[in-house]
Amino acid sequence: MKGAHLAVEAVTHSYRRAGAPAVCDVTFQVEPGEALALVGRSGCGKSTLLHIMSGLILPTQGKVLIDGLHVTGPSPKWVVMFQQPSLYPWMSVAQNVALGLKFTGRKREIATRVPEMLRLVELSDYADRNVQDLSGGQQQRVALARSLAPAPEVLLLDEPFSALDAFTRGTLQRDVRRIAKELGITLVLVTHDLPEAVVMADRALVLSANPGRLADIVDIDLANRDDLRSPEYAEARARLAGAYERAAGRELGAAEAADDAGLSENQGLSAARPAVR
Ligand SMILES: Nc1ncnc2c1ncn2[C@@H]1O[C@H](COP(=O)(O)OP(=O)(O)O)[C@@H](O)[C@H]1O
Ligand SMILES: [Mg+2]
Repeated sequence: MKGAHLAVEAVTHSYRRAGAPAVCDVTFQVEPGEALALVGRSGCGKSTLLHIMSGLILPTQGKVLIDGLHVTGPSPKWVVMFQQPSLYPWMSVAQNVALGLKFTGRKREIATRVPEMLRLVELSDYADRNVQDLSGGQQQRVALARSLAPAPEVLLLDEPFSALDAFTRGTLQRDVRRIAKELGITLVLVTHDLPEAVVMADRALVLSANPGRLADIVDIDLANRDDLRSPEYAEARARLAGAYERAAGRELGAAEAADDAGLSENQGLSAARPAVR
């Protein structure tokens, strides 16, 4: 497996009937094998951007290129994982992991790929178990193995660990990063959880809301990712938190500017009223 290069070019998206665009003129690139986080508060357009990258939504303007290929729909080259693992409860772990290969006509690869993927997510001993008997974290590992089985070049994650308890979440965050690096695939992670971005990503893009714009880029260049309490981690977390707050501040600035605009529009009205001052 290898990672693909991803380019988001001047992407703007407006949902039908919505007033302001959810995402406005966003441009960035992700290098092959890089782990990138998209952070920003709820409603700033993170999921919209991820759906556009996966081809599930076509943007109103702009485009996404994966290794130069215009993304216009889903492909086995890129896969998305959501908060809910959405497994088939009546199937075994191995059967669930085999699904992607089955649906893409690659049944012959099942015998080798499925055990390989189960080893990667550390579930080799669970191959024949029913997925219903697994914990939430284990189910998310099954979903990860299923996503990786067809050997995608880009893995897109939309808050995939937010339903899990803190300990399980921490282990999965590190494992997913390790696995993506081992396979060399490109990882894009959407999260509102800043520590998660610091643990998992090489770089974080900070979005501001209304409309969703790219506000800042923070490099998370850590020499050692094993010690969560290192000063290096604390420094990276502080830098990202600073960028996040500045982006939120800018939103506030924009809201104030809109208020000002509203005031000037109403000047005709206030002129008709007796001056109080
Ligand atoms: N299907 C939809 N139809 C209309 N508006 C939507 C739809 N999905 C999301 N939105 C709006 O677009 C904006 C961005 O949403 P979303 O991408 O889900 O943000 P995030 O993932 O950062 O929380 C929000 O204002 C949201 O209400
Ligand atoms: Mg979202």
